[in-house]
Amino acid sequence: MGLISFENEITELVQAIVKDPFLHGLWLNTLSYLENCGARKIASCEHPTAVKEEMLKHASEEFRHAFYLKKQLGRINQHFEDYRRSYLLGGWPAYHYLNALDLYSFRYLQSLRLDPSATKELAYLLVTYAIELRAAELYPLYHSQLIKEHSRVQVKSILLEEHEHLQEMESALSSIPKSSIHIENICRLEANLFATWLVACIEQIKEHRLALRGRSPFHWTGSVRSSQRLFPMKWKCSNA
Ligand SMILES: [Fe+2]
Ligand SMILES: [Fe+2]
Repeated sequence: MGLISFENEITELVQAIVKDPFLHGLWLNTLSYLENCGARKIASCEHPTAVKEEMLKHASEEFRHAFYLKKQLGRINQHFEDYRRSYLLGGWPAYHYLNALDLYSFRYLQSLRLDPSATKELAYLLVTYAIELRAAELYPLYHSQLIKEHSRVQVKSILLEEHEHLQEMESALSSIPKSSIHIENICRLEANLFATWLVACIEQIKEHRLALRGRSPFHWTGSVRSSQRLFPMKWKCSNA
């Protein structure tokens, strides 16, 4: 429910990335950055004392994913000491993906005129749900490609935990009135931002291939070609 799929585009992207250790390293470092961002956002939503075990578990697992992906870099002889822009695949759009999703989601929720604590709670659930939906699409496609290429990199343990997170978010949102409308709106915002990052990754791969003499150019056949907004940014308000 809600996800706007980029299955073909992600498949094509990971096919190109896994074959090239440098690009693969940038990709792993970028996923690690996004996992760390997600973990920090979950931790920042915690109440100082009223913290449920589920939320604690979720934050700790996202931090673990960030560290685990960082460690996988060594398996393909790559090393990036931090998350500076030049060490990320997709540059600025990778940096902005989660922050912009937070900002736009908050603006959407403000338009509903809920009380501040309900806005905060709903923002956490909706943004996390949209990210988990994307993770549930991306990690299995990446995992399949790793198996196909006999890569030493493994992401299976992450994949299993992300599946659990998605189920937890689904059950939490099921008790929120009109949650399906909110989910549709937030997933549209997420899809625009994800597509922008996707296009930036494609452009970087093209440039990288051009810079390597003797390597075949990267012919992109996916339907996402520009970072223009694919889906309307206007939302249906459901507060009536
Ligand atoms: Fe994660
Ligand atoms: Fe997760």
